[in-house]
Amino acid sequence: MARKPIIVGNWKMNGTVEETLKLITELHHKLESPEVDVVVAPPFTSLYSAYVMLQEMPTIKLAAQNMHWEAEGAYTGEISGVFLKEIACDYVIIGHSERRQYFAETDEAVCKKVASAVAQELIPILCIGETRDQRASGKTENVLESQLKKALSAIPMSEAKNIVVAYEPVWAIGSGETPTEKEIESAAYFIRNYLGRLYDAPTANTMRILYGGSVNSENSGIFLRIPNIDGLLVGGASLFPEKFLKIIESRHSSS
Ligand code: 13P
Repeated sequence: MARKPIIVGNWKMNGTVEETLKLITELHHKLESPEVDVVVAPPFTSLYSAYVMLQEMPTIKLAAQNMHWEAEGAYTGEISGVFLKEIACDYVIIGHSERRQYFAETDEAVCKKVASAVAQELIPILCIGETRDQRASGKTENVLESQLKKALSAIPMSEAKNIVVAYEPVWAIGSGETPTEKEIESAAYFIRNYLGRLYDAPTANTMRILYGGSVNSENSGIFLRIPNIDGLLVGGASLFPEKFLKIIESRHSSS
């Protein structure tokens, strides 16, 4: 079965409720029955309003940017998958490098979050990727393997197929720099191959692999043509409806 492409806008810590609703309205207004899954990830405070608005706009799906692994309890400042499910979030970004880097999120925490998301029937968008130093010292594949192995260690084969893996080299995020097509192709091939070893080939072939890091409307079509890349995780450019729309539409020039 062909993997349906998916374009995710990670708004990070951007967007008041008012800005969120404006952005979604503009996006929806110009979005004509996309052949890709279109997902936006506004901040937590905007999710509920976005959910209410999106009930009339089912072509756009919602993602959260993070979650806690427990369903409820004394975890000040945290949000659980149960709450996300209640407001019809379909996806949740887990293990973004900014969370690993600035909020000391460990592979163990990422593993618990992925397992909890799956238990809540949320689709995890699991982020992995190497730093500049790791790439320079030839450790990219070791890092990808280690992050995948740890993050997925609690996920049996029967539950793996819906998981989305986002390859986001840390050095490409927000920098305007991207890997070459060959480098992305080789990382995506490595990821698919490793998922095949972790589970089996048919399972690995149903899992979607995204590229993220300095995606814009000029390079998106090129990235979407890369074998084993099934979509994009877009940061900065997803805050501008016209740029995000071009990225969504660049899929058409890719087939
Ligand atoms: P940029 O597209 O701004 O580089 O961010 C990528 C990212 O981190 C998406 O999760």
